[in-house]
Formats: sequence, C-alpha cells, structure tokens
Amino acid sequence: MDVVVAPGPEAARIAADIVERALRTKEQPVLGLATGSSPLAVYEELARRHAEEGLSFAHARAFLLDEYVGLPEEHPERYRHVIERELAERVDFALGAVQAPDGNAEDLAQAAADYERAIAEAGGVDVQLLGIGTDGHIAFNEPGSSLASRTRIKTLTEQTRRDNARFFDGDVDAVPRHCLTQGLGTILEARHLVLLASGVSKAEAVHQMIEGPVSAMWPATVLQMHPHVTVLVDDAAASRLQLGSYFREVRAHKPGWQPW
Ligand code: F6R
Repeated sequence: MDVVVAPGPEAARIAADIVERALRTKEQPVLGLATGSSPLAVYEELARRHAEEGLSFAHARAFLLDEYVGLPEEHPERYRHVIERELAERVDFALGAVQAPDGNAEDLAQAAADYERAIAEAGGVDVQLLGIGTDGHIAFNEPGSSLASRTRIKTLTEQTRRDNARFFDGDVDAVPRHCLTQGLGTILEARHLVLLASGVSKAEAVHQMIEGPVSAMWPATVLQMHPHVTVLVDDAAASRLQLGSYFREVRAHKPGWQPW
C-alpha cells in the first residue's frame, strides 16, 4: 500500500495522473468511479485536462461503485445523475459507456448479478477511485460486510445516512435506506485502487484501514490484501496514523523507479 500524505489539490492531481496514464496507455481502459465529495477535485482536474489538453475518454468505459435503491428516476442525487454532472457530461465518453447498478430494477438481485457480469465482460476495472466512509465503508460495504462480497443489496448504517444527509438538504429521512453496491470481493479485482480521504472526520477510518487488523468491522481494511493500492490523504485525515512520519519520509525519498 502506497500512502501519500498530500494536500487536496496535489492528491487530486496524482489521482488524475493515474487515470490519465490508463487512458493514454490502454486500448480499452475501464475506470471505476466513486461518487461523494472525495473524488470531486479529481473529476474537476480530469475535465480540465479534457478541455485544455485533449485528454480523451472516447475509448474508455466506466462503472460506478454503487447506487441508491428507490430514488425516483429523475432525482438529482441518483448516482448515475451525479456522475453525469460531475464528469461524464464534461468529457467525451461514448454513449452508454458509463454504467451504474440499476437501483430501481424490479429484481435487484438480478440487477446486481447483471452488473457483475457487465464488469467482467468489459475486462475488469483498471483504475478504481474510492472514498471512505467515517465508519470505514468503501463503496457502500458497511461494517459487517463479507470481505469476499459481490455486488448486492445493502442497508446503509444510520451514520452513513447522517453523513450523506448533506446531499439531501440535511434531511436524513430523505436518504434512502438501501443501495446496490459492488462488493469488497468485486472491488479487490480492480487492478489499481486509488483511495482519497480528507478531513479529520476520516482520520479514525484511515488509521484502521492502513494500520488496523483486517476485519469486517472496518471494511476498508480489506485493501491491505490488495497488491496495488494508492492512498491519498491530507494532513487531517492522516492525523491518527502511527506511521505518518514514515509515510512522509518514504515520499520525500521516493526512488525514481517506484511507480505510483
Ligand atoms: C460513493 C461511495 C462511498 C463514498 C464514501 C465517502 O460512491 O462509494 O463509499 O466514497 O461514503 O463519501 P465522501 O467522499 O462524500 O466523504
């Protein structure tokens, strides 16, 4: 696990560099996209590079991590609309290239299985962007999730619903209780995981993810089992790391041959 302590704008540039490298080097790159606040600066930077530097997404496909269940089709907080606003409409993805689990399907279990199949048929995810919940979730794999889980229906914790109420005018009751989410086993199959976290509210989850024992109580700890993870955290999110000064030292003396 490569842990980089860097201010938000620099973290966003590093994440955008990783995405850009996949876009420029792979014939049919597959991106994994997170929603929420954490990746917003990355999407901003990617949209800028598209507009100013000709970075193209035309040959890429993308899969969202998760989707709320039961929000009306046109609701602006449906994650497929969020990602359209934040990234897809600002770059040149081909029509239908960005997919999300269908949180309004009549048969949610079937929709989850279809989503797994679509990711596999696309050849798997090359670069997966991730955020982390204050309770240690990644995607919407809440505490207690199987470390081998696949895309499925989950119930959001009260804490996650409170954390996300800011996207629903502060009304926790408006936040759906259920979602379809890629599983931890699904996420682990992506070839490069890039997790962004900022702010002191993430510090305990970041500490557990990097330094805690691997446990379903802190689902993000499963990233310790993945061979290629880049964690980008600001000083506040890194503030509980026991190895914080070591990670800073690693970065300061990073040999040129060590890739992100
Ligand atoms: C969203 C997702 C979630 C968020 C997490 C952090 O697609 O998968 O795991 O990444 O809840 O959210 P923010 O970034 O809003 O703090």
